Amino acid sequence: MIAIVGAGRVGSSAAYNILGRHISDVVLLDVAENVALGEALDMMQAAPAIEFDGKIKGTSDFSMMKGSELVIVTAGQARQPGMSRMDLVNRNAKIVKSVVKEVVEYAPDCLLMMVTNPVDVMTYVAYKASGFERNRVFGMGNILDTLRFRSYISAELGVSREDIRALVIGEHGDSMVPLVNFASVSGIPVTTLLSKEQIEKVVGLTKSSGADVIKLKGSTVYAPAAVIAIMADAVLRGRNRVMSVSTYLEGEYELSDVAIGVPCVLGRNGVERIIELKLDSESEKAFKESASTIRDALLKMDKTA
Ligand code: NAI
Repeated sequence: MIAIVGAGRVGSSAAYNILGRHISDVVLLDVAENVALGEALDMMQAAPAIEFDGKIKGTSDFSMMKGSELVIVTAGQARQPGMSRMDLVNRNAKIVKSVVKEVVEYAPDCLLMMVTNPVDVMTYVAYKASGFERNRVFGMGNILDTLRFRSYISAELGVSREDIRALVIGEHGDSMVPLVNFASVSGIPVTTLLSKEQIEKVVGLTKSSGADVIKLKGSTVYAPAAVIAIMADAVLRGRNRVMSVSTYLEGEYELSDVAIGVPCVLGRNGVERIIELKLDSESEKAFKESASTIRDALLKMDKTA
């Protein structure tokens, strides 16, 4: 069973994706009980049309997460137009700490997936607050960035999105690092198919993609929800998929005591393995700067919150 904490736009839509893909039953939790109840009821009524038999329950009773193999945290404030994800740090850290307390009490053996922004900082906060082994606590961010990177490469080339392979690492935020040298179209390096100007364009669009959606409609929903379902599938079905997820580093990439997006093998134990890439000097510099951005936010965070 999966518990999703936060039945707002992203949490409820993720639940719907998970049920529709027949991945698991879902308990949808929110401090706003009516929201959780209403979302669950609405989804249950859609079940005959979407053809899923999975159970969905909405509640504000955190003890209902008992028995969850995976807890996904989408509780917290989302950024408004013009805000950076980092503007949410103190408020969301407080919410995340209170949620993690419940997780430790009711689902002490679960895997914990963070979505609340700024996700790298929240992954760190959740890892420290939970006391779980580091493989059990990970954050969703760069896979979404990667999806966006793939979409823009495919649009620029006029080829199927399915054939684009790519990777984004670093902060899920303004300092993210789309790895141009690791992007390919069915194995053909993108650098041989796109001009320098085109590459700059797709990288720029990838970096601003979240803000571009928020400026237009107030929040991002479909893409993050779909990515949450992909990760839930990788974990619960033990698929060992290679994805960039936010994970706590202990010396990998010469970094310690920070959670940041790097390629990992995601499977039944959460982060099964961290893959260390050999980066070119420009990407390495950008990645280290990205880590510094997350570190600065951690240092500035109100520790009493
Ligand atoms: P939303 O405002 O629609 O929903 C948030 C929900 O959290 C609300 O229903 C609220 O009642 C609930 N909540 C607040 N405190 C809670 C608590 N202590 N326990 C349980 N529930 C609580 O926000 P939305 O759009 O769903 O976004 C949620 C979070 O996900 C935001 O921080 C947003 O920035 C983040 N996000 C992260 C993405 C990523 O790639 N990592 C992508 C998109 C959103």
